[in-house]
Amino acid sequence: MTTEHYTFVIKIFFTRMNNTLHKIYIAAFFIVGIAVAILLAINGYTYYSTIEEEKFFNASHQLLKPSGYLGHGLGILGTLMMIVGVAIYMIRKRFRLFFNLGFLKHWLEFHIFLCTVGPMLILYHTAFKFGGIVAVSFWSMVLVVISGIIGRFIYVQIPRTIQGQELSIKDLNALNDEIQFKLLNNYKVNASLLAEFDHINRISKYKSASTLGAVVFIIKDYFNIKVLLNKFKKELRKMNLPRSGKKEAVKTAKQMLIMSRRIGLLRTMQKLFKYWHVAHLPFAIIMFVIMIVHVAVTIAFGYKWVF
Ligand code: HEM
Ligand code: HEM
Repeated sequence: MTTEHYTFVIKIFFTRMNNTLHKIYIAAFFIVGIAVAILLAINGYTYYSTIEEEKFFNASHQLLKPSGYLGHGLGILGTLMMIVGVAIYMIRKRFRLFFNLGFLKHWLEFHIFLCTVGPMLILYHTAFKFGGIVAVSFWSMVLVVISGIIGRFIYVQIPRTIQGQELSIKDLNALNDEIQFKLLNNYKVNASLLAEFDHINRISKYKSASTLGAVVFIIKDYFNIKVLLNKFKKELRKMNLPRSGKKEAVKTAKQMLIMSRRIGLLRTMQKLFKYWHVAHLPFAIIMFVIMIVHVAVTIAFGYKWVF
């Protein structure tokens, strides 16, 4: 085995080893996020759905208004979650001292969790009324979250190691060769199907894609890949392989096709991601600056929480 083989095996080993724990980590984020959204909605539904003029007379007004015990608390907690979510990720990413502290991609997932649940709490804090100058902070927050979702999509198109560092074209080509080798030798793909694989797998076809054209390419490719994989599955059914072997074969083929697309679009995606940073960061700054003014104003007006 060559060094590249070893690296490949080690990468797969670590991915497997972390899989269960990682699934629990992500599931916990989903469960907490969805539970918080549902519980707060159930708890305040009658209040939040009351028209503005009548909210004052609602029994929950004192508790749920933006300066109420719970409403105010949600504003503080939501803000803290966003501050921690941004600070922790930026510190882990930028300071050499912390480079070995967990995988960067796990920290990004934590960033996404805190910066999704935080804005949700802020939404409940506002009691669905977005008035005053702080509305600018609120809508900037909404834009950061939307741009975050788009950024996450671009981020996953750029192949990385399991630690979350970008892979070079050389690493990617080596990895792609490994997968192709496995597909050819372990599953004996027939010649006509192999030609179709080769056709979809042509990295050069992405060369002409412009930054925007890449989106069209990905959508078209998505359907082409689906059709080809269905053919492959049919072919596998004729072969005498155990169920787990067939599943593994489809997974390998899918891995190879997706890998080629990612290699082909690497430069375009890297460029797109650079532009994307230019949008995500300024909105975050606007949100935080106006939020600081908002907090200062509320303190100046004498609003206190439990302290
Ligand atoms: C990004 C973070 C935040 C956003 C987007 C936000 C947004 C808002 C909005 C839209 C309102 C309602 C304004 C209105 O009645 O028209 C509000 C009210 C209020 N917020 Fe925030 N808020 C944030 C963070 C905070 C924090 C951290 C605190 C406390 C330290 C806070 C304390 C208050 C208080 C006391 C009110 C009631 C003010 C009043 O009734 O006049 N907010 N906030
Ligand atoms: C109010 C909410 C949010 C704030 C304030 C925020 C802020 C930030 C900041 C300041 C950065 C660092 C930018 C840099 O390194 O130049 C960042 C990175 C990032 N955020 Fe957010 N974010 C928020 C929500 C989200 C959400 C909801 C997602 C995804 C669904 C997301 C995805 C990302 C991604 C993919 C990166 C880039 C990671 C990298 O380049 O290493 N963010 N965010």
